[in-house]
Amino acid sequence: MPRINTHYQKLRAGYLFPEIGKRVRAFASAHPEARIIRLGIGDVVLPLPRPIVEAMKAGAEEMASAETFRGYGPEQGYEFLLEAIAENYRSQGAEVAADEIFVSDGSKCDTANLQEIFALDNVVALTDPVYPVYVDTNVMAGRTGEADEGGRYANLVYLPTTAENGFDPPLPAKPVDIIYLCSPNNPTGAVMSRVSLERWVAYARKEGAVILFDAAYEAFIREPGLLHSIFEIPGAREVAIEFRSFSKTAGFTGTRCAFTVIPKEVYGRDASGAPIPLRALWNRRHTTKFNGVSYPVQKAAAAVFSPEGSAAVQANIDYYMENARIIRAGLAVAGYRVYGGVNAPYIWLRVPAGMTSWDFFDRLLGEAHVVGTPGSGFGSCGEGYFRLSAFGLRENIQEAIERIRTKMKI
Ligand code: MLT
Repeated sequence: MPRINTHYQKLRAGYLFPEIGKRVRAFASAHPEARIIRLGIGDVVLPLPRPIVEAMKAGAEEMASAETFRGYGPEQGYEFLLEAIAENYRSQGAEVAADEIFVSDGSKCDTANLQEIFALDNVVALTDPVYPVYVDTNVMAGRTGEADEGGRYANLVYLPTTAENGFDPPLPAKPVDIIYLCSPNNPTGAVMSRVSLERWVAYARKEGAVILFDAAYEAFIREPGLLHSIFEIPGAREVAIEFRSFSKTAGFTGTRCAFTVIPKEVYGRDASGAPIPLRALWNRRHTTKFNGVSYPVQKAAAAVFSPEGSAAVQANIDYYMENARIIRAGLAVAGYRVYGGVNAPYIWLRVPAGMTSWDFFDRLLGEAHVVGTPGSGFGSCGEGYFRLSAFGLRENIQEAIERIRTKMKI
């Protein structure tokens, strides 16, 4: 019998969302009459916009003819998509070249896999609460020790981001090599200000650290003046890698397409201290382990940037952000303290005093038949908080809020 990777045995419980799914299925089978409204996992519900589907169909049609059929494509993505992405960055005030972009099947996979190009003895910093993928994949790789009682792993540096510090990640108290930041944030819904991003870029430049910046929710930013990309900060190209996704932006959770940007100026060092471009390492990893996203899907993704595609995508984002507004307003009327939901599709609320996040999950499911995500599932600083997703049909959002208002008023 082969020996297993024992680092997996350090992992706490199941991955958050399957665990929630298991509990919801148990409740549903015990209460078949309950009409459950799911605002847990952030999964889109609106269909793909028509211009995007038409582009996907045209791409599929090309595969049906000998003249236009395509086999393996470039692992990094087709030029037409890379150029469209680079142009979109330029329109946002960030300089990104097409050959710095790596198209993939998802930011979950990219944020999970990118740690492979770094040595195991790097010190990793991440916020608490945090998207669990960053933590779990570093545990699996063996970059951490065991978890303590509160679920925190030894060797990771946790940066508490709570209402007390305005959900603005504080700089680490000790030197770190790799920093995961997510803005707009999953789960808190907070957005890092320009000042905060500047402070982080300055820190990374001074300490020789790399920032892994997850911008999967940038399209949900509404307020003017907020940055969509870390590359809008001068000097960030030397210290940052950015992840973006079509999943939430354009309804691709089931279609799968995302990308990672690694500027040519960002380096790590080898055992002798010599600088090595991270872009070259990721290119090596990507071309070895990945064969590219399918042609019709890349055609669909490129249509997101066309005038019709981007208008349709914007209409869907507006719909979800109106949901977020309804959730925020309804919860406030019901007596809850709410955060997020203004520039992000997640609403982060304080659970009633004396309850844990999982107590609230059970009560919300049991009394209102509404599913959300317990804040403690995102880290110990998430205890006492709860996340609701704005990705739902309007009538379900309205009904969920009505049920919370009438059954769970505080
Ligand atoms: C979430 O609900 O946090 C997201 O849907 C998870 C993901 O994007 O992988």
